[in-house]
Amino acid sequence: MSLTQIFGESPLEKKLTMDKPVESRLDTTDSKLVGKPISRVEGHLKVAGKSTYTAEHQFDELCHGVMVGATIGKGKVKKVHKDTALQVAGVIGVFHDELFLRNPQQGGVKMAPVQGASEVFYHGQPIALVVAETLEAAQEGAKALKIDYKNDEKHGHFDFNKQKKHTQFIDWITDKSDDIGKPEKTLAQADVKIDVIYTTPSQSNMPMEPHSSLARWFEGKLTLHTSNQMLAPSKVQLAKALNMPEDDVRLLSPYVGGGFGSKLGISPESVMAAIAAKDLKRPVLVTMTRPQVMESTVRRTNTEQRVALGADKEGKIHTIIHNSIVTNLPSETFFEPVAVSTHFLYGGDNRQIKYEMARMNFTLAGSMRAPGEAVGQLALECAMDELAHELHLCPIELRKRNEPTEDPSKKIPYSTRKLLACMEQGAKAFGWEKRPQTPASRRDGDWLIGYGMACAARSNELKPSQARVSLVPSDKPLGVMARIETDMTDIGTGSYTIFAQVVADMLGLPIDHVEVKLGDTDLPPASGSGGSWGAASSGSAIYLACEALREKIAQTVGLHTDSIGFKQGNLYRQFEHDPNLAEKIGEKISHALTDTLDKLAEKTGINHSVATDNQNSLNQDSLNQDNLLDWEQGDIQLSLQAFLQQYAPQGLVAKGEIEPGKTKKEYRHAGFGAQFAEVGVHRVTGEIRVRRMLGTFAAGRILNEKTARSQCYGGMVFGIGAALMEQIHHDKRDGRLCNHDLAEYQVCVNADVPDLEVIFLPEADPYANPLHSKGIGELALAGAGAAVANAIFNATGVRVRDYPITLDKLLYQLPLL
Ligand code: MOS
Repeated sequence: MSLTQIFGESPLEKKLTMDKPVESRLDTTDSKLVGKPISRVEGHLKVAGKSTYTAEHQFDELCHGVMVGATIGKGKVKKVHKDTALQVAGVIGVFHDELFLRNPQQGGVKMAPVQGASEVFYHGQPIALVVAETLEAAQEGAKALKIDYKNDEKHGHFDFNKQKKHTQFIDWITDKSDDIGKPEKTLAQADVKIDVIYTTPSQSNMPMEPHSSLARWFEGKLTLHTSNQMLAPSKVQLAKALNMPEDDVRLLSPYVGGGFGSKLGISPESVMAAIAAKDLKRPVLVTMTRPQVMESTVRRTNTEQRVALGADKEGKIHTIIHNSIVTNLPSETFFEPVAVSTHFLYGGDNRQIKYEMARMNFTLAGSMRAPGEAVGQLALECAMDELAHELHLCPIELRKRNEPTEDPSKKIPYSTRKLLACMEQGAKAFGWEKRPQTPASRRDGDWLIGYGMACAARSNELKPSQARVSLVPSDKPLGVMARIETDMTDIGTGSYTIFAQVVADMLGLPIDHVEVKLGDTDLPPASGSGGSWGAASSGSAIYLACEALREKIAQTVGLHTDSIGFKQGNLYRQFEHDPNLAEKIGEKISHALTDTLDKLAEKTGINHSVATDNQNSLNQDSLNQDNLLDWEQGDIQLSLQAFLQQYAPQGLVAKGEIEPGKTKKEYRHAGFGAQFAEVGVHRVTGEIRVRRMLGTFAAGRILNEKTARSQCYGGMVFGIGAALMEQIHHDKRDGRLCNHDLAEYQVCVNADVPDLEVIFLPEADPYANPLHSKGIGELALAGAGAAVANAIFNATGVRVRDYPITLDKLLYQLPLL
């Protein structure tokens, strides 16, 4: 019997648009694997070297390409002397093509990037590709390749301090907020004010795995093994860049060694590999060197930020100004949304947020981990510390006095916001009460000791996602298994594991009975890994596919969806069917959310009734009366294996789809946290050591306590790096990166990272998605660097507003203690 005979023509499918808050099935599943600190399901493959990353693939006839970047900062390519490279033994091709990417593409964009290889806009811009039988020969060839340029550096912009006098206001912001109130006027009249400039340098995403692409052509179709975070839009970008139909392009990224935003869109080696492979009729692998990753992919813009805060004598803030200058290449529209969290973090009636763009001949500025918050909160959260100091208030007390009851810019409620609880619990766990009350007042031998704190906030997003989940017979102990299929990626964050946990709970299977297939554009398109939305978005699509399966199975065996349970490969009647369940669910949620909903209704006049789960109101007629078993509550009467044998011998397949809806606009969505740091500053040398850090985070349901914690460690380490070491130095004469490798671009190493403690506050966000989760990785970066900077001030009494805070900026100001 075929599936269609049993279930009709329509495929199983469940789509949810987040127009209202929803219940989560994860609250009532029999097993509670979601949330547990389960180790990575693909971990054994990684430690055994069996997870094949792009550059590790072996193919017959594989040849190697090495990129050659421009050695001038602006000008034109006059001639590429291909013969100079072709003379090298083993070199089989030299390519210089107008389809080459001039700039990499930003994430999520469904357009080709800026292309062209004859005009140079920045030092390191990819100009040519040398392909050889071996990597070594290609490297030799690339070194030998002679390129003539017409140098036009005299018209280039390489000095930010000069170029910032020639900025344009950014007027293409969709979420533009005009001034609220009269910020400049109220600032001038403030009892207490801070009006300061903070600067942050360009930074490099620096994922562990360099950008890499391996192109193979077969009958006019391109398969690209690549290291990429967001496959569906990247496929479109690549097809457009190569002027070919999207359907003829397939991207494969099952394993990605980090991206931090630099792999959201395609990078130059992808198109180069494709063009060379087509011409040579052989697979071509192009892997960037570390300097090329820094010079030819993405950097985070440097920023200059004015933060002004005005308050009354009691510390009630009435004015917030946060204006930024950011940089990018000519004609690029991406800008770092520096003040994204300033819109909603603290109350205050008079507000201004503005952006200006300075055009620089530097590598493309694009997304890097927590674009906006990561650098914006380095300024805002230190300015808050400065204001607290002026007011002689504890920084936590200042924040408490300015805790808003709704988003102060948009006048909409928060979906959930546990900032106060994060501060309170964090302070307690950290021992904040032992903070030196006066800066530069505590010594430990030759070390000046200080405590600092900062808040963390990171916008939470849901992105459209699709997934397929199948339940199929298998030779595993329970005779069945589930398979997840989506083009979602796992960039080291734990996607494989989290998705397996969701399906294991939803379908009542042990985790080793769930197979996860990711990273292939032939599979249903998902959110991709970016903006900390991956687990929630793709996970919700997977959840919904499971809902479709549960519903169909329930219906088939004569149970209601609200009463069927799935346990260890078996079906049982978990709950009494309640015809009024829909209303009951409504009541349950409304109790929890009465406040928010009422307030909103008052404001908007819209009655935000709570979603009633339509699928729970299946009427008896739709049940399969013929198959009604006599289901006693709690008894197991049918195994999934027997179910499949009887009703769907080839298995069941369902599609799930989620998309953002009205809750996106009607609520402010963000994760919140509080960061605490203790530092020691050497009184003689100015050396700064972070002694310990603690972060408290409320980010909805935590899907896997271990992977989430690891994400938070990563974020906090990123914050230490931003505060103390990370910075790209551009040569002011030609824009060349002076520190284009990991020897000279400092990131935290183990010795820089002290004990980190992470505390999660229980939370569930029914407005966010059916998992009730929020993004977490970038949240833990937000505010982390500011906590370190504030601790340095507390230790020394010296405020450095120019990041990173290196000892040379401290040394001459240290107190003589
Ligand atoms: Mo996100 S900017 O892709 O870490």
